[in-house]
Amino acid sequence: MLGQKSTVRLTLGYKLLMAATGLILVGFLLAHLCGNLLLFAGAEAINQYALKLREYPLLLWLARGVLLLSVCGHIYAGIKLSLLNKKARPQAYAKAKRVKAGFASQSMLLSGLIVLFFIVYHLAHFTFKWTHRAMFQFLDEHDVYSMVLLSFKSPWVTGFYVLSVILLMVHLYHGIRSIFQTLGLNHPKYNLAIKIFGQSLSVLLAFGFLTLPLSVFFKFLE
Ligand code: HEM
Repeated sequence: MLGQKSTVRLTLGYKLLMAATGLILVGFLLAHLCGNLLLFAGAEAINQYALKLREYPLLLWLARGVLLLSVCGHIYAGIKLSLLNKKARPQAYAKAKRVKAGFASQSMLLSGLIVLFFIVYHLAHFTFKWTHRAMFQFLDEHDVYSMVLLSFKSPWVTGFYVLSVILLMVHLYHGIRSIFQTLGLNHPKYNLAIKIFGQSLSVLLAFGFLTLPLSVFFKFLE
């Protein structure tokens, strides 16, 4: 049985791990979105970008390693925190708290797990090219443009991406604000600004990612 002091210390540790890895993952999302938006600049632009990334394999694998560790650390801290919360919460308090807490905050674990499922599918789709082998077989290995355009002709693939990005937004809607609060920027003076920043960034990221499958599906990009 853990003492109250150790529980508080452990909770803080997991929250810090959650915030630090969350910050890295949001950074990746911003960079990934900027790269993906090159799709609107044409095949040459995005394919050259994909090729450029591979010119520095050491850097690429270092970034991938940091990303993988961040995802694992984020999930580990999330599960540990949710277990600690369950242990620490008396029943009556739990009920009152659940009503008070927002929809996004309550669904963090669920939306996080669905986003994880999306990432696994997404890697199998575009990085390892396992899910659309027949569709991609005649494409050049670095022809990201054609790969994306072919994929989002399918209503199933487009629908799944749209749903996943919306769930990612639900996750970030609460998550980005929590990063700032855990890292110590929790002051009544700034709380509203932090909340608006977090919510706006999550909507902006989701909007950016949604433009890609939807533009292809509705033939704005051909
Ligand atoms: C919805 C629009 C998106 C599109 C069109 C897209 C497109 C792509 C493409 C084409 C690749 C492979 C790049 C290459 O091999 O050169 C890729 C890789 C990847 N994407 Fe996305 N992506 C989208 C959203 C997301 C989201 C929302 C996440 C995270 C939640 C994500 C996470 C990743 C990861 C982790 C990789 C592997 C990066 C690596 O090769 O190391 N993507 N994406």
